[in-house]
Amino acid sequence: MKSFFILISLTTSLAAIIHKRAERPHVQNANHIFNAIHSSMRQWGSSLNHNGMSVFLATVPQDVELYHGTDSETRINGTEWLAFEPEHAMIFARGRHGPPPDRDGERYPPGSHPQSHDSHGGPQSDHEHEDRYPPPPSPPPGPPDQSEGQRFQHPPPPPHHFGHEEDERRNEWEPEHLGDALAEQRPIFQSRAEGEEPHGYLHTYRTKHPLRLLYVDGQSAAKSEKGTLDVQDMVLLHQNPPEEAVFVAKYGMIDRHEDADRHSPPSGPQPNHDKEKYSRGQGRPHFPPRSEKRLGPPHGGPLGEGQRAERLCQLAQTEYEDRIDGILRMEGGFEIILCDMAKHLDVISIARTKPDAGGPGPGRDDGDMLAYYRAVAARYDGIGAGRVTLDYENFVSLFAIDNAVFFDESRRPRVRNETKIVAPVKEAIKAMALKDASGDVGKNWQAITDMVVARYADPIAYLASGELNQLHDFKAEADHAMRPFIDYGDRNTAREIERCSIQHLPSTAPSNANQGKPAYDSIHAVTSVLCRTLSAVGEIDTLAHGVSMLRGLKSWLGWTTWKRCRGCAEHEVCFLPIWPAGSAEDFEHPQCRSHVSGGPGTYWGGFGKPPRSHDRP
Ligand SMILES: *[C@@H]1O[C@H](CO)[C@@H](O)[C@H](O)[C@H]1NC(C)=O
Ligand SMILES: *[C@@H]1O[C@H](CO)[C@@H](O)[C@H](O)[C@H]1NC(C)=O
Repeated sequence: MKSFFILISLTTSLAAIIHKRAERPHVQNANHIFNAIHSSMRQWGSSLNHNGMSVFLATVPQDVELYHGTDSETRINGTEWLAFEPEHAMIFARGRHGPPPDRDGERYPPGSHPQSHDSHGGPQSDHEHEDRYPPPPSPPPGPPDQSEGQRFQHPPPPPHHFGHEEDERRNEWEPEHLGDALAEQRPIFQSRAEGEEPHGYLHTYRTKHPLRLLYVDGQSAAKSEKGTLDVQDMVLLHQNPPEEAVFVAKYGMIDRHEDADRHSPPSGPQPNHDKEKYSRGQGRPHFPPRSEKRLGPPHGGPLGEGQRAERLCQLAQTEYEDRIDGILRMEGGFEIILCDMAKHLDVISIARTKPDAGGPGPGRDDGDMLAYYRAVAARYDGIGAGRVTLDYENFVSLFAIDNAVFFDESRRPRVRNETKIVAPVKEAIKAMALKDASGDVGKNWQAITDMVVARYADPIAYLASGELNQLHDFKAEADHAMRPFIDYGDRNTAREIERCSIQHLPSTAPSNANQGKPAYDSIHAVTSVLCRTLSAVGEIDTLAHGVSMLRGLKSWLGWTTWKRCRGCAEHEVCFLPIWPAGSAEDFEHPQCRSHVSGGPGTYWGGFGKPPRSHDRP
């Protein structure tokens, strides 16, 4: 009975904390805002919380090296994608004209291997390479991980480096396309001299001066339908999202096959068409043929990626009055859509890459994929060396705005695309973009979330694990965390909880200028709930009650730290889904792996098809 009462009172007080300031949604969604701060500019947390939902002002200092992979040796002057890691850029440093596709399954780039697509109309499955070419046979017998590496030996060129001439293949790394397949079909790609080895270039640039960027958090460069593009397409580009993205949101993934059929006579083998696949394409708008020459970036690329970049830069020039130099995003690595490369960058070097190599799987060696993932994993805890600073005092989180976010069936946040909700968010982002640079970056609230997570992640996980089987031990564990905040000569629960919850926060005086800011309020709300729960453990009568309380707390907090592998070996990475790779199982239980695949995993594509056995860890 007593425990029941405590459960009620805990729940009510928890609700009260949240309800008391319910008029401020950033307290209601405090856990999500706390996690956005904690995961910002970190590959790990941002990969898990892949839909982001927050926009920050970011600064890249002068003299930071940035990379671009391409098939051209001319420095780039316009709008382009830039990577923070050379390994990321090198995926795109590919020769323009590769040899014709093999039929042995070796031509598939990371992110396009049809075998892991659902071949019956799963969301990412209906792509032309599947229809036009026989699917590659099953991987050869032998250790599966080895064949995994071999399969990605010839990634076609860049998914997203655009901005010069009519390079139609610039976005074809993604699942929709097989660039080399197109190369074989379309004469436009046949200008390479006979016998010339295809090669690409790694461009190395340095920032001439600090860059002022908008950082869209989560896996905002993941061209997926899972919500990774919501903030860009529904908020920033609310009035003019890429047409392709709107179409996909309405009808599902576009079947490019139709386009291809309409605009270029098929010359490749024509396997049977599955007519059912086209049913979703009925009434689709007309997209111009991909081979059409156009000024500026093409609409093309997965989910309108070229158009998205172009429109984001238009936004920067018009609405943000040229005060924003580009957009900072993340996929397998952080990247910048830089609107004017000539203005902001000096060329350091333009080097020819290893022929027909340069990315995952290039050197005919399955270590390349792992090398790329290691470069990605090296940034799990941050981009490092102060290469990016965020303004945590003035960011815009949709979690802090009434009704701006809903949670979909997989419990991921999505943007509610209604003009009356989105308009004020857009205004807030604009105000942030136009804000005078004070030179003062303000408080590093992320460091405060780190203090909280570092102190409590293990005790909470241990208490919630059920491994403690004596009530006494359970209470002692919670007590250890609370003890520093208790005056044993003068017990006062409310005071103890307050002491605990403000431990890492700056002044909480009523005049505290920090109050009312999303960062302060959300961190305080989270530590209040956390400290209240730990304090309540002292009063419980049954172990079961304690465990269930702590499980509730753990699930509410949702710290991404809890999914980290513990102690991978030197030749392993802690593998989790980063678009386009990974499975649902990888998302739930990331594990140390020494062989990783860049191929599209079940997580991002169809859940309809069971993963191949070696997709599992
Ligand atoms: C960029 O500008 C430089 C110098 O003006 C020029 O040499 C180069 O060809 C330009 N690059 C492209 C891709 O047009
Ligand atoms: C979001 O809503 C706006 C306004 O109704 C609409 O124009 C736009 O196409 C929508 N965006 C998407 C991605 O559906």
